[in-house]
Amino acid sequence: MVCPVSKAVVPAAGLGTRLLPATKSQPKEMLPVASKPLVQYVVEELAHCGIGELLFVTGRRRAAIENHFGPDPELIAALRHANRAGQGAELDFGRLGLNIQYTSQPVPRGLGDAVLHAESFAGDDPFVVALGDSIIGLHGPSLACRRMAETFVSYAADVVVGVEEVAPDRVSLYGIVKPGGKEETFPVETIVEKPSPRAAPSRLAVAGRYVFSPTIFPAIRATACGAKGEVQITDAIRRIAEQGGTVLGVKLRPDERRFDIGNLPGYFETFIEFAAADLAHGPRIRQHLRRILDRSRVRQDS
Ligand code: G1P
Repeated sequence: MVCPVSKAVVPAAGLGTRLLPATKSQPKEMLPVASKPLVQYVVEELAHCGIGELLFVTGRRRAAIENHFGPDPELIAALRHANRAGQGAELDFGRLGLNIQYTSQPVPRGLGDAVLHAESFAGDDPFVVALGDSIIGLHGPSLACRRMAETFVSYAADVVVGVEEVAPDRVSLYGIVKPGGKEETFPVETIVEKPSPRAAPSRLAVAGRYVFSPTIFPAIRATACGAKGEVQITDAIRRIAEQGGTVLGVKLRPDERRFDIGNLPGYFETFIEFAAADLAHGPRIRQHLRRILDRSRVRQDS
């Protein structure tokens, strides 16, 4: 099925300081999660949703991402020579039918600024933004972005954000919306970036997936830099809501759990869960996990 929004932007220019030293020489988007780099899950999700054109906004370590998705005839020939042509076919990302482009954000000045770098790519068209440090769904790519794109078109919205409920002690890690209703799709009355649990208007956190109309660009430009010198996309979204624009939230479904790989504990948890769910190696990994948990229980008891 065709997606009503055909363009997507994947910001991947952050320094990944919360994941050092693993991210010293590679972007966090290239960290492996079980057998694939994190960003491959994101790109496969967008292709599955029907996106046709994709723009990466990268930082100074762009080469690793570009090399991963670019052709490698020598490797393909070597795999063919070793009778592993099937593996070679998996590495041919042309099969995803995506036209991939790259642009640089020379100084990492926040997500708002990264999105601003997509202005000429978007032109007059709406576009999805999928954060390169989040995977949605454990057992295969989700269709959440397509649902959000359909909502965007049928309500003639300015912004649609994908949200999921988080524990009270995690609201200070995310953009949190104030919902104007209890349905799966609801109007966003306002949105705040990383509030304290006491100030949070709800527990519904922006889960790294957005759909924007080009009205986001002037709103970003009109948004002052936050305390850390970063331009927050959340502040631009709030501005659109305050000016009477249509900002909607779409709740992720239970099978669309969001995995946040923006920090080390989140990365460890995600890797373990994806390795344990791996079709080929999962049974062995689950057995191993059971063994190490039993061993630590014995140690605790003795
Ligand atoms: C960014 C956004 C935040 C959103 C989060 C999702 O924060 O600013 O609103 O909820 O991504 O992962 P960051 O994780 O870059 O600090």
